[in-house]
Amino acid sequence: MTNQRHDAVAMLISEHHSTKALFQQFEKLCDPSFVIKKKLAEQICNELMTHMEMEEQVFYPAVRAAVKEDDEIDEALVEHSSAKELIQQIMAMEVGEDLYDAKLKVLQEQIEHHTGEEENEIFPKVRETKVDLVALGVQMAGFKVKRGTLPSLADAVHAGS
Ligand SMILES: [Fe+2]
Ligand SMILES: [Fe+2]
Repeated sequence: MTNQRHDAVAMLISEHHSTKALFQQFEKLCDPSFVIKKKLAEQICNELMTHMEMEEQVFYPAVRAAVKEDDEIDEALVEHSSAKELIQQIMAMEVGEDLYDAKLKVLQEQIEHHTGEEENEIFPKVRETKVDLVALGVQMAGFKVKRGTLPSLADAVHAGS
């Protein structure tokens, strides 16, 4: 239970918050240039892809064996794969095309549901295990460094708040 502010779960929750803020920013763009809209959508998609891959390759495998029931992790993986499909569709589209905004909205709703389940169901269980979440956080940061997506300063500040 030591140093929870900087552990793996805190890092994931901080990323959930920053994605939520990006979605809200996207929603608030009123009549923006297509360039700004496209850039923000790409940032949302890229950050989500890295977050999901980090969970799939580092976080979920490390905690799966420690939690008593792992059905929720299976469900999380299915939710990831449907979010990834939608992300691929969005990335292949141009802003202004039919259904572009609708796909972003549905992605936002799916991610809200998914992160809610992680935060309310998976993470509390993980906190009850003996998994070293500080060490796991370091491993996750290493994954991001390898991907060339170091945690942003905003994330670091958020994790410490
Ligand atoms: Fe996830
Ligand atoms: Fe997550």
